[in-house]
Amino acid sequence: MSTQPGERRRTTVRDLLDMKQRGEPIVALTAYDYLFATIVDEAGIDVVLVGDSVGQVFAGHDSTLPVTIDDMIYHARAVRRGVKHAFLVVDMPFMSFQVSAQETLRNAGRILKETGAEAVKLEGGDEEMADHVRTLVRAGIPVMGHIGLTPQSVHVLGGYRVQGRDEIAAERLHEQAGRLEEAGAFSLVLEVVPAALATEITSIVAIPTIGIGAGNGVDGQVLVLPDMLGLNTSFRPKFLKRFAELGEAARAGVRDYAAAVRDRSYPDADHSFE
Ligand code: KIV
Repeated sequence: MSTQPGERRRTTVRDLLDMKQRGEPIVALTAYDYLFATIVDEAGIDVVLVGDSVGQVFAGHDSTLPVTIDDMIYHARAVRRGVKHAFLVVDMPFMSFQVSAQETLRNAGRILKETGAEAVKLEGGDEEMADHVRTLVRAGIPVMGHIGLTPQSVHVLGGYRVQGRDEIAAERLHEQAGRLEEAGAFSLVLEVVPAALATEITSIVAIPTIGIGAGNGVDGQVLVLPDMLGLNTSFRPKFLKRFAELGEAARAGVRDYAAAVRDRSYPDADHSFE
């Protein structure tokens, strides 16, 4: 698969699997709107995730729990218009996949039909969740799993903290990874787990692992776009590297605009019609 912008065809699950087998890192990022989706896609990113982190970075909630299926569909449709080449995954929000396999199927089907995305992602790896994954895969819906720090379970986990630190918790994550692979998930997000554990899981499962705060021994990385671009300056976990400072640039631009309006230097003749 070429990664040169302009020369790419649409990425598939097969491509992602091939990348794991070749040891080629998979690059994933979140997006929530058309303009940033275009930027991300044109930069040659392999996987775009419409994350339910939209609840925090777009809507200003303090968790992902309030996000609805309709919210996800609205944002995913905008992102779809900007993503021409990357593999597009949409998060299933809290309570859209927990109640039953049938309801999970109905909601995932709605997401694919109404957004044009290629796959859904859902959190958790216990037996019931694996059954739901199996139901989706049987219906032809590709599923990305997500284990480790699963933000929709923040109240059960007791906060946003590193997962899998002790032996029992690490063993549980191993089991969940194997279970999701066996259920047919095509890929697995490992969020905020010790690097050594993520590396171990990556070497055991045949499907690509995508890490966030999971070190460098995974098959790919994902970050939340406004966090890595420095737009969301209040979020500073250890794993996050800012690759740009757009927040600073935006603040300066807004300040300059306000000053120019107040001192009447804007609009000048160049920005006015005769
Ligand atoms: O919602 C999200 O953005 C995610 C990523 C952090 C993996 O689930």
